[in-house]
Amino acid sequence: MCGIVAYVGSKEASPILLHGLKRLEYRGYDSAGIAVLNDQVNVLKKKGKVDELKKLTQKLKPTGTLGIGHTRWATHGAPSDVNAHPHTSTDGKIALVHNGIFENCDTLRSALQKLGHTFRSETDTEVLAHLIQEYKSRYNVPLEESVRLALEKVVGAYAIVVMDQDEPNKLIAARKASPLVIGLGKNEFYVASDATPLVEHTREVVYLQDEEIAVLEPGQKLSIKTFRNEPQKPAIVELDMEIEELEKGGFPHFMLKEIHQQPDTIADCMRGRLNAKEVWTRLGGMETYRERMMNANRLIITGCGTSWHAGLIGEYLIEDLARIPVEVEYASELRYRNPVINSGDVVIALSQSGETADTLAALQHVKEKGALIYGIVNAVGSSIARITDAGSYIHAGPEIGVASTKAFTAQLTLLSLMAITLGKANNTLHPEYYKELVKELGEIPNKVRNILAKDETIKQIAASIKDASNALYLGRGYNFPVALEGALKLKEISYIHAEGYPAAEMKHGPIALIDENMPVIVLATNLSAYDKIVSNVQEVKARKGMVISVVTEGDKRIKQLSDYTIEIPRTIEPLTPLLSVIPLQLLSYHVAVMRDCNVDQPRNLAKSVTVE
Ligand code: F6R
Repeated sequence: MCGIVAYVGSKEASPILLHGLKRLEYRGYDSAGIAVLNDQVNVLKKKGKVDELKKLTQKLKPTGTLGIGHTRWATHGAPSDVNAHPHTSTDGKIALVHNGIFENCDTLRSALQKLGHTFRSETDTEVLAHLIQEYKSRYNVPLEESVRLALEKVVGAYAIVVMDQDEPNKLIAARKASPLVIGLGKNEFYVASDATPLVEHTREVVYLQDEEIAVLEPGQKLSIKTFRNEPQKPAIVELDMEIEELEKGGFPHFMLKEIHQQPDTIADCMRGRLNAKEVWTRLGGMETYRERMMNANRLIITGCGTSWHAGLIGEYLIEDLARIPVEVEYASELRYRNPVINSGDVVIALSQSGETADTLAALQHVKEKGALIYGIVNAVGSSIARITDAGSYIHAGPEIGVASTKAFTAQLTLLSLMAITLGKANNTLHPEYYKELVKELGEIPNKVRNILAKDETIKQIAASIKDASNALYLGRGYNFPVALEGALKLKEISYIHAEGYPAAEMKHGPIALIDENMPVIVLATNLSAYDKIVSNVQEVKARKGMVISVVTEGDKRIKQLSDYTIEIPRTIEPLTPLLSVIPLQLLSYHVAVMRDCNVDQPRNLAKSVTVE
C-alpha cells in the first residue's frame, strides 16, 4: 500500500526513482510523484500510473543526484495531482514521501495554520512537511533533529523519507510500523518500502527497525538512531532475491506467471521439510514450540482476505489430522472485539506481505495477552515475521500480482506440513495414513502441473461466464474455503459479484438467486459427501442455473449433469484444496482478461494493506 523509493549519490536520481516506482507500482497506483534536488526542490507529480509521471519527466527533464519518489494508494484525499506525494513545506524547501497514516493530522493542521503555514493538499502527509519546517526554523537544528521532534508529535503508523534544500547532500528516513529498507552502494544510498527496487543496485541492505531514524549522506557511514536519540549499529544483511523473480518471464501478466509457478513454489515450500522416500516431515520453526502447540487451549489462526481463507483450510487440516482445537478469526475482528486470550493460546498468523496492518495490530494485542505467536509469512524480515515468537517462511518468492495465488498454495502447503507433523507427534494419525499423506503431499507439484496443462480448456469455459453479473461458488468440507477463495479471486480482478457458500447452505437462501443467468461453480471432488453434492448440482440444474463443476478425473455422474467440467487429478481429501483452487485461479484470470480488466493491478486494491 503505497511505495517509497529514494536515492542519494552521484548518479542522476530521476531514472532511478522512476524505475523503482515502476517496480513498486503493485503496492499502489492512483498517483505518483518525485522530488529531485538541483539548487531547489523540484517536484513533479501526476494522477494515474507511473507511466503518466514518466511522460511528465520526459518533458521537464529534472536533474539532480538526490531525490525521493512515491506511488500512492489514497487514504486521505482523493487521487489527484495535488494530493500525490511528495509534499512540501510552506517555504517549499522540505519535501517528503510517506506510507501509512497520521491519525492526529487534523489537530496538527489547525495548529500549524494558526502559525501561518499554508496547505495545498488534503493529505495527512503534508502536515509533517510543515511541522518539520516549524521545528527547523524554531530551533535551528539539523534536519534529522527537526524530523525527530516532528515525529514526537504525530500519532500513527508511517515510513517516511525527507529531503531539505538547505542540506543538499542528505536524506532522512524514519519508520514506525511501516517497512523501510536502506540499500548501501559505494558512496550512495537507496531507500525503498520493500526490497524490490533495490535488488538491481545493491545486495547489501539494512532493514530499518521501528522508531528508528537514519541519516544517509554519501561519503559518510550510515547513521541510525532511535526516536530517543540512542545510536544503533546498522545490521547489514544480504538480499536473497533475483531480478528475474521481479520480471514477467514471458507471461502477459504477473498473475498468470505466478499461477504457473505453483508447482515450483509448492516444492520450494516443502524443501527440507518433507522427504517422501524416507517418509518424514519436520518444521524447523515449530520444533521448540511443538509441545506448547499440542497442549494449547486452542490454536487461533488469524489473517485477512486470501490468507484468512488459507487459515480456514488450516483449521480443517489441524482439527482433522492432529485433533487440536482451532479457531479462525479475521485479524480485524480479533483485534477489536475484546476476545478471551491468554498464555495457554497459540496464535498462528498468516500473511503473504508480512505488513498487513490489521494482522499486525491483532498480533500486538494478543502478544500483550501472553499468547505465543507463530508466523506463516512470505516476505522475509517483514514486520509480522519480526513480531512473532517463532514461525516458518512459505518461500513462495515475491508475489507481484495483487491477487494472491502462489502465496495461497504455499500457505496451504505449510499448513498441511504443520497438521501432518503435529498429527504424528500427537499420535492421531495411523502410521499408514501418515505415510500416505507424506507421499501424496510430495506428489502435489506434479498434479498441479497436470491441471495447469488444461489452461486452454479453462480459458474456453471462462468465455461462457465473462458477461455474467453474478456467480456462485459452492463447496463442502475442505472445498468450502476454496469456494470462498474462488469467489474472491473472481470479484477482485474481474469485478463480477461472486459469493462462496458451503454447498448445503444453498437451500437456506442463495437458491433464490438461481436462474439461467447465474453461473454456479461447484467443487465436486469430495468422496465423503459425493451423493450430497450430486443433489446440490441437481438442485441448480432444476432451476436452469449453469453449472461449471470441478471433479476428480474419471467422474461420470457430475460431469453428465454439468454444462462444463474441469477434471483434476485424484488426491486424498485433506490435500484437495491444493488442487481444486488452481482451476478457479485460471478461470478468474481469463474472465478478467476477456473483460479487459487490469489483472495485476485491479481498481481500488493494493498488494500490501498497511492501513487498518
Ligand atoms: C486477495 C489478496 C488479499 C490479501 C490480504 C492479506 O487476493 O491478496 O485478500 O490476502 O490483503 O494480505 P497478506 O497475506 O499480505 O497479509
